[in-house]
Amino acid sequence: MAVRWELIQRDPASMARRGRLHTPHGVIETPVFMPVGTQATVKTLSPEEVWDLGARIILSNTYHLYLRPGHDLVREAGGLHTFMNWPGAILTDSGGFQVFSLSDLRKITEEGVHFRSHIDGSSHFLSPEKAIEIENALGADIIMAFDECTPWPCEHDYAKRSLERTTRWAARCKAAHARPDSQALFGIVQGSTYADLRRQSAAEIVDLDFPGYAIGGLSVGEPKELMHEMLEITVPLLPGDRPRYLMGVGSPEDLVEGVWRGIDMFDCVLPTRIARHGTVFLPDGKMTVRNAEFARDFMPIQEGCDCYACRNYSRAYIRHLLKAEEMLGLRLCSIHNLRFLVRLMEEIRAALEAGRFAEYRREFLSRWHAGEE
Ligand code: GUN
Ligand code: ZN
Repeated sequence: MAVRWELIQRDPASMARRGRLHTPHGVIETPVFMPVGTQATVKTLSPEEVWDLGARIILSNTYHLYLRPGHDLVREAGGLHTFMNWPGAILTDSGGFQVFSLSDLRKITEEGVHFRSHIDGSSHFLSPEKAIEIENALGADIIMAFDECTPWPCEHDYAKRSLERTTRWAARCKAAHARPDSQALFGIVQGSTYADLRRQSAAEIVDLDFPGYAIGGLSVGEPKELMHEMLEITVPLLPGDRPRYLMGVGSPEDLVEGVWRGIDMFDCVLPTRIARHGTVFLPDGKMTVRNAEFARDFMPIQEGCDCYACRNYSRAYIRHLLKAEEMLGLRLCSIHNLRFLVRLMEEIRAALEAGRFAEYRREFLSRWHAGEE
């Protein structure tokens, strides 16, 4: 079965839209947030817990699964869905980000990237063809093209040469893709924070005709206004009948602002990463439940939150678990943070359907920023 995105409704006040992503592993309502399961697990949670908090699609990583346990092993297990017992949809990133952020001693050539494993220092080579071979073996519903995510800041000259190589790599990914009928290959727009390069990259990648488009190379340290500007330039150049995915983003406010600018899909390690520091999302910003001030606070993390953590445990108990380095503390913070983002997207979709997304955004942002002082 081919993966197909269906446009349901456009927001008259913004670039936002409601859609539905049809995959061999279910229908995904968009806009959507995808929890990150880097090593075929959303850190500290069982797939059942991820499902129960409302997630229906997760992201996993080619780079990690290639290095360990190896894509042949995952294929032998029956593919990633079976291996990890996740009934929902999966998107795999190509390694085009991790190889630049995690590995050692990289050498980029036209052919691909030579690098050393961050696990044992062994030498490896990833190319567009190799990344697609791995992604075909892993068997995710959506697979990403192999690209170069440029760091920020980045010289115009380098960003241009890099995006042009990413375009050539995207064409090679498409040619190498062995299972286009069951796995949708998404192209990735690069171009750093240069308007002309974003336009060039979007035109080149769209010309290759992918069933979905990602915007990469953002949320890598640039000011938020620049990210917004790049979205405003790029999104109108992407075909309106294909899903748009903003890679590696983001915080609750980034999701609201991204949807406003026409993004349908997001992923980010933030909810699970900050959970490890005992930090949780609240409607008025982040809070560190590990702090001493919560020692005798017997309220839930967020009053009225429908997550498993908030329905059953107090801030004081969770703080105790974190201080005692008990794993349940991390699990409860992760569950809350993931549910917070999944619910945020549910609310955004409901607001879009009710024609009140502009109002929802205004209220969300004023509350979120009110807590920042
Ligand atoms: N994750 C976050 N940003 C990027 C990007 O630019 N490319 C890829 N492949 N993954 C990402
Ligand atoms: Zn909660």
